[in-house]
Amino acid sequence: MKRLLLFILPILIIVAVVFTVSGIMQARFTEDKLMDDLQRKAKAVNESLEVSARYILINNDLRSAKRLVEGFQRRERLQGCAIYDKEGNIFAITQKFAGWKDKDKPYLKDILAKRVPRGGLENFQEYSVYSYIIPVTDDENNVLGMVEVIYDTSYVFTTLAALWKKLSVSLIILLILILLTMLLIQRQIFTLPVRRLTQWFTHFQKGETEKLKPFEEKGEFGKLISEVEQVALGLRVARKAVTEEAHVRIKEELWTEDKLRDLIHAKLGENAFFVVSNREPYMHVMGDITGTPKCIRPASGVVTAIDPILRACGGTWVGHGSGNADRKFVNSKNKLGVPPGDNRYILKRVWLTKEEEDGYYYGFANEGLWPLCHMTHTRPIFRGSDWQMYKKVNQKFADSILEELPAKNPFIFIQDYHFTLLPNMIKEKRPDATIALFWHIPWPNPEVFAICPYYHEILDGMLGCDLIGFHVQFNCNNFLDTANRLTECRVDTEKFSVVKQDRETFIRAFPISVGGPLSAGPTSLEISEIAKIKEEFKLKDKIVCVSVERIDYTKGIVERIMAIDRFLEKYPQYQGKLVFIQLAAPSRTHIKRYHELISEIDELVEKTNWKYSDGDWKPIIYLKRYFSPEEIKPYYSIGDLCIVSSLHDGMNLVAKEYVVSNTVSGGALILSKFTGAARELTDAVLINPYSIEEFAEAIKFTIEMPKAEKIKRMENMRRVVSENNIYKWAGNIITELVALKKS
Ligand code: G6P
Repeated sequence: MKRLLLFILPILIIVAVVFTVSGIMQARFTEDKLMDDLQRKAKAVNESLEVSARYILINNDLRSAKRLVEGFQRRERLQGCAIYDKEGNIFAITQKFAGWKDKDKPYLKDILAKRVPRGGLENFQEYSVYSYIIPVTDDENNVLGMVEVIYDTSYVFTTLAALWKKLSVSLIILLILILLTMLLIQRQIFTLPVRRLTQWFTHFQKGETEKLKPFEEKGEFGKLISEVEQVALGLRVARKAVTEEAHVRIKEELWTEDKLRDLIHAKLGENAFFVVSNREPYMHVMGDITGTPKCIRPASGVVTAIDPILRACGGTWVGHGSGNADRKFVNSKNKLGVPPGDNRYILKRVWLTKEEEDGYYYGFANEGLWPLCHMTHTRPIFRGSDWQMYKKVNQKFADSILEELPAKNPFIFIQDYHFTLLPNMIKEKRPDATIALFWHIPWPNPEVFAICPYYHEILDGMLGCDLIGFHVQFNCNNFLDTANRLTECRVDTEKFSVVKQDRETFIRAFPISVGGPLSAGPTSLEISEIAKIKEEFKLKDKIVCVSVERIDYTKGIVERIMAIDRFLEKYPQYQGKLVFIQLAAPSRTHIKRYHELISEIDELVEKTNWKYSDGDWKPIIYLKRYFSPEEIKPYYSIGDLCIVSSLHDGMNLVAKEYVVSNTVSGGALILSKFTGAARELTDAVLINPYSIEEFAEAIKFTIEMPKAEKIKRMENMRRVVSENNIYKWAGNIITELVALKKS
């Protein structure tokens, strides 16, 4: 509209200016003509008056003079007339103009002296008048006096005012007509074809092929549209070809990026694939020192797992735009191609207000559901206001997704505890959508879950899914028990499903994984990074132990430091030899419990280092900041030992990442038995992190384990992760979904 105005406004201004100038000229012309008429009329009247005036003045006949001036007054527009004597004094004047006597008329003497007539405009009382005076002479040309006629000129101005009114009305009508014509032309030649083109693209995007009518535009626009049609057709053909090819390649044994891509194309065909999570996979933040924005990959298991899948098969990921520079990088629909520079899929950012983020993310999700589902003895907090925000944000995400969905059978893959209400919200509007939710954290037993005052709505919301996935069967069983006990439904223990109001939700275990294996070993860049880190932290000849985490009370970081302390205390021969590197990304820092944990760890690290440090050596190198996946990798290679000591964890991908990344040092893994990963990585040294004594012994046992055994255990674990990698995880979920849909 703004652009249209910019185009139309100058035209309207030019028309208005031309019209006004021509109006002024027309008014001038009319005024001149009217004044001319008046003068001519005044002259003629005056001349006819002069003859009578001459006799009156010669005879000094006042009575006749008065009759004459009163009689002449009745003519058209003539206001009055006057007869002057030869001194310039009024001899007789029309009664109505009696006051005219007192008016100062300096020009009278001139008329008498030069004997020439004079006409001019005068103001008298409320009148604007035209006065015409001629001298009266006898036969010898002696001046006898003067006669004057006085005309009303107001009609000239009235006529001009009427003319201007007419011109203004015509101008307004003209401008409106021009504006309407321009709008009509613009609509016909621009808006309508563009609207048709946009609709066409929307149908194309949504796969509504039956609605793709051919265009009938002519001219340049028609040519453009025909080119676009060709490109679109090419894309459709290419998609089809990929789908066909996919059917052939899918039979390969090992799960790879390509195999998953083929599977998705073969199973989903042209149906679009959507992922939803709170945490976005790519986040734009302002650089601390430089002030220029940079793109980071947040520290999150969900991101680690799902990003490779979307990289492999494309689609749309909808997430919370939480980076402080995020808004700078999206288009008008809040979307961008990611990874930056290598756009494999679309990221759609949803914006939340501070209040929404506070109530939904920090409050309900992370102070309520997170501690509720993790058995770490941190009390969950459920506030009514947080719940309201949680519902509001779920609805916001639902609306944002719904506007993206294509016409036919979309697949929506929702992540985690942030979106328990989302499945139902989507299903109500789009019953044809296939919806899966993956729960990345543990699921507690019914007694624990019933603590949540809103468990009813949560279970209802989740049962809008076709499929709910957990990492391990134990969590599936807990969920089935919870549904059975806390909501009105039928649990089918044969099919592992929950039936509620004619809708069936299948519950399945899919242990999540990572992309690995990195068979080629570290790149030359990583080798030089490894050397740099070893140099910086003086790691030569040291036993290096690593841990990588968000700072979270579920991760058992405090217990780990206490175990290191106990180990060094109990086995002093390792003092000066063992170095423990902890990479720790601050997380959810607005929550009091997380804030307190940061201080607690700071204090403990400080105390332990003070207790043992000797010269150059200190036992703990605590690196408290965000590390990118590329920065983390060399630490995995350096670690002779990796410790994962979560108090409770859905899966824990650090354990799997370490196993596939540590290909140079032939390391070893100490793993909490309370992680999902412990069910698969049985060759790790399993510990109970609550038992500091057992933990310290496990460190000694692992360090002293014969090299051959270490290598064997690592190889076994690497094989497990390779065979059950993230591509297989996604492939299984999609295969299951498609099969369920068909059955
Ligand atoms: C866990 C959750 C994820 C979450 C991640 C990081 O892995 O299952 O959903 O993204 O922690 O937490 P954050 O709150 O930073 O996203």
